[in-house]
Amino acid sequence: MNKKSISIVLPTYNERKNIKKIIIEIIKICEKNFDFFEIIVVDDNSPDKTYEEARKIKDNRIKVFVRKGERGLASAIKFGIENAKYKYVCVMDADFQHPPKFIPILYNKLIENDVDIVIASRFLRESKIYGFKIRKFFSKIAIYFISSFFPNLKNISDPLSGFFILNKEKIDLKNIRCIGFKFLFELLSKQKLKVIEVPFEFEKRRYGKSKMNLKEIINFIKLFFVLLIDTKEYKRLLKFSLVGISGIFINEFFLFLLTEYFNIFYVYSAIASFEISILWNFLLSEFLVFSDLRKKGLKNFFIRMIKTNLVRGVGIIVGLVTLIILTEIFKIHYLISNLFGIFAASIFNYILTMRKVYI
Ligand code: GDD
Ligand code: MN
Repeated sequence: MNKKSISIVLPTYNERKNIKKIIIEIIKICEKNFDFFEIIVVDDNSPDKTYEEARKIKDNRIKVFVRKGERGLASAIKFGIENAKYKYVCVMDADFQHPPKFIPILYNKLIENDVDIVIASRFLRESKIYGFKIRKFFSKIAIYFISSFFPNLKNISDPLSGFFILNKEKIDLKNIRCIGFKFLFELLSKQKLKVIEVPFEFEKRRYGKSKMNLKEIINFIKLFFVLLIDTKEYKRLLKFSLVGISGIFINEFFLFLLTEYFNIFYVYSAIASFEISILWNFLLSEFLVFSDLRKKGLKNFFIRMIKTNLVRGVGIIVGLVTLIILTEIFKIHYLISNLFGIFAASIFNYILTMRKVYI
């Protein structure tokens, strides 16, 4: 029988009231379920001296690191993983939002399925969330949005979770920059890993306050753009836009051709040139933008063509609605409103094309 061992990383910042209790609970769970374990507290020199509390527990399986001069949840997680001595590393919050009873469940899933990461997800059907519903709502929107830009996040319900277990030997920490809170988002979008998720019960924080704030939201947005560059996904976005712009010229050209030389009523030629430009966009982007994401086969090709038409239809509606709202309600000049409309429609086109047609 193989011995079971696990390292548990607890990043902390001002968790004085939680830290001892959570450590004691983790020890209880680990003694029951593992042969060897260690708990790594990574504290960023908390003003409330969380690290002193943690050090009061005299147990050589607990290691308390105090980082001076460096701050940040993601970088604390990276530091903890780097300093873990066992191969399987579990990362969790120290405020009881991630109940320790799920540690052995995550571990067993990782071993049974032989994957690189198991995420405790807040957003599977059997998951439960206690507390702020509004945060849940925004997290879901953020996840929908980011998953549309990074194909690696496909089918992952909670890439923003802070509760997961990983096989240290399967991940590469070298290029992880650690901007702000979201370690997992960066890791998953950069590396193609074998991932599964399990539902868990996301509890309320027991003592103290969340460190999520405006600065972390800005960090998240910054991370999003940095990852677009690091993963080279910005190239896809750029090519998609260029193909889209070329479509406008095709549209104009056929509108002119059909109306002037074939004597078709301009409204009918406009409809026809719309369709021609959609097909032009589709064919060009099949080869230039999405060649790596395409499924083979003629049938799939036609399905994608039909879906692209539907997506573009939604795009046109989004553009029109934006134009009307900005012009009528915000009294912006219609030509300016139209630019915003085109921008909104393009973002929508991209997101829907990625999600509904290619990934
Ligand atoms: N070392 C260190 N440095 N730890 C930090 C820092 C920091 O700058 N900021 C926060 N932490 C610690 C907290 O002390 C806590 O143990 C854990 O990281 C999570 O911080 P919270 O402030 O409780 O964050 P949250 O509850 O709003 O969000 C967490 O849970 C979400 C759901 O799983 C985070 O883990 C999110 O990433 C996650 O999405
Ligand atoms: Mn928390």
